[in-house]
Amino acid sequence: MSKETLGPRETWATRVGLILSMAGNAIGLGNFLRFPGKVALYGGGAYLIPYFVALFLLGFPLMWLEWAIGRHGGQYRAHWLGPMMYLITKKRFNHSTAKIIAGIFGGLSLSIAILLNAYYTNLIGWVGFWAGMSVSGKITEVTEVSQSVGYLLKIIGDPLYNIIPWSISLIVIALIVSPGISKGIELGNKIMMPLLFIFAIGLLITGFTWRTPIKPEWDSLKGFYWLWTPRYEMLKEPATWLEGAGQIFFSLSLGIAGIIPTYASYLRRDEDLTLGALTTASLNEFAEVICGGSIAFTLGYAFGGELPIGMVFVDKKSPFFLAMAVYPAFFGKLGSTGAVLGTVWYFLLWFAGVTSAIAITNTMVEFFSDLGVKRTYGSILSVILMFIFGLPIVIEGSMTIGYDWGPSTTYLDFTDFVIGSFLLVVVSLLETIFAGAFIWKDGYEELNRGGLIKVPKWMWKIVLSIIAPIYLIAMIVWLPMSTRIDAIIHETDKPLEWLGPAMAMLSLLFTLIFFIVGYIVTTRVIEKKYAQIQV
Ligand code: ALA
Repeated sequence: MSKETLGPRETWATRVGLILSMAGNAIGLGNFLRFPGKVALYGGGAYLIPYFVALFLLGFPLMWLEWAIGRHGGQYRAHWLGPMMYLITKKRFNHSTAKIIAGIFGGLSLSIAILLNAYYTNLIGWVGFWAGMSVSGKITEVTEVSQSVGYLLKIIGDPLYNIIPWSISLIVIALIVSPGISKGIELGNKIMMPLLFIFAIGLLITGFTWRTPIKPEWDSLKGFYWLWTPRYEMLKEPATWLEGAGQIFFSLSLGIAGIIPTYASYLRRDEDLTLGALTTASLNEFAEVICGGSIAFTLGYAFGGELPIGMVFVDKKSPFFLAMAVYPAFFGKLGSTGAVLGTVWYFLLWFAGVTSAIAITNTMVEFFSDLGVKRTYGSILSVILMFIFGLPIVIEGSMTIGYDWGPSTTYLDFTDFVIGSFLLVVVSLLETIFAGAFIWKDGYEELNRGGLIKVPKWMWKIVLSIIAPIYLIAMIVWLPMSTRIDAIIHETDKPLEWLGPAMAMLSLLFTLIFFIVGYIVTTRVIEKKYAQIQV
């Protein structure tokens, strides 16, 4: 079967829509909530060094690669990573070897998609909760970070606070994904992404100009200095390097179950990808470092002094606490105007999260559709799985709410570390090997075809195919020596001292199970659907 005989496929309607949808895919809670927390956990400016090294050596090159993998697969009606990698590696290896490689990608993708979206949508629920607090005006009761932290503990520890906004978000995700995303999501992103940027820039300016709203010593600029001052001892920690790279992947959506390749699979054969990928990555970085990081640290210091940073860096609370606690204090302090502004901001942030979660869900739906499951049922099944495997967050929180050290968030933070950082690094490593210059011989041609800019050959052959894999392997090998991993498993005292390690084990067990299921399913689908395609 050749690609000419495969029939019609879904494509993006407009170029602006494509770029903004790719940006919507990438820009999400990672930029505004995860990045500030990780910066705090790994010592401020010290974290930014591995972060920027990873951006240039891994982020930009991998973005090009994932777009190329996706556009190539789309021509053969392959819309998720497993078959895409089969079609690439089949050019070089025999069918059985290519099938095994595809199985590994399929297994990793399924694990990542379900487990990452399970906690990611839960966090979207937290944002939904604050949207509700803004709409009802209750946010005005919160004027300092210490008060928002009180609410956060309730969100985690009390299922009533968490499950409703989370479930609503899951239903919305299923409703948007089920008819097919490229049209509906394109329109939504065209309106919401520019608004998100405008609003974020407004918050950024406020953070720098409204310097001491609560106490003279809580000067917002001190937070900004903390962000950019390296604590060099943190650079000795392998986890700092892994998490720096992990955040680049998380935030750019690279290695996340192939969601960038899936969106790129809706590109036309000769449509530009080189400039598109670069633009998306640059927009994402602007949103992350300039907006997400600076806002959280300036407003964080202005409304809570050292508390927001300290609770992550010293007290080992979840990294997601930092920014989650900062925004409500700011909006609350503004009174009724803040309630209105908060409503708009939380809705935009919620939308940014939802568009990323949609991209992940859509990849799962493509996976299920290769098993003959219709889009509607695939969407429902996906969100049910996310709900079930996100429930341990709620269970752990409610078990530990009454204790001084609770509520505990090991399942969330450990899954975020293993799936959201470590496995993204693993997938990216495998991509640079199996879709790099040594194996994908016509990959460079695929990458540059129709391109509005040209990716230089050294970028493809040297940076992407030699430096990047060596760099990624070095991080993975070095990682077990990190002492910082302990900070991710929350310490809980008697009678629940077993809980933190148990939650970490549960997360690993789920990861393994989905990997095995994904592997088996992918190899079967390859046999049934893709083995006959001539590449
Ligand atoms: N790239 C998405 C985010 O940063 C997952 O939230």
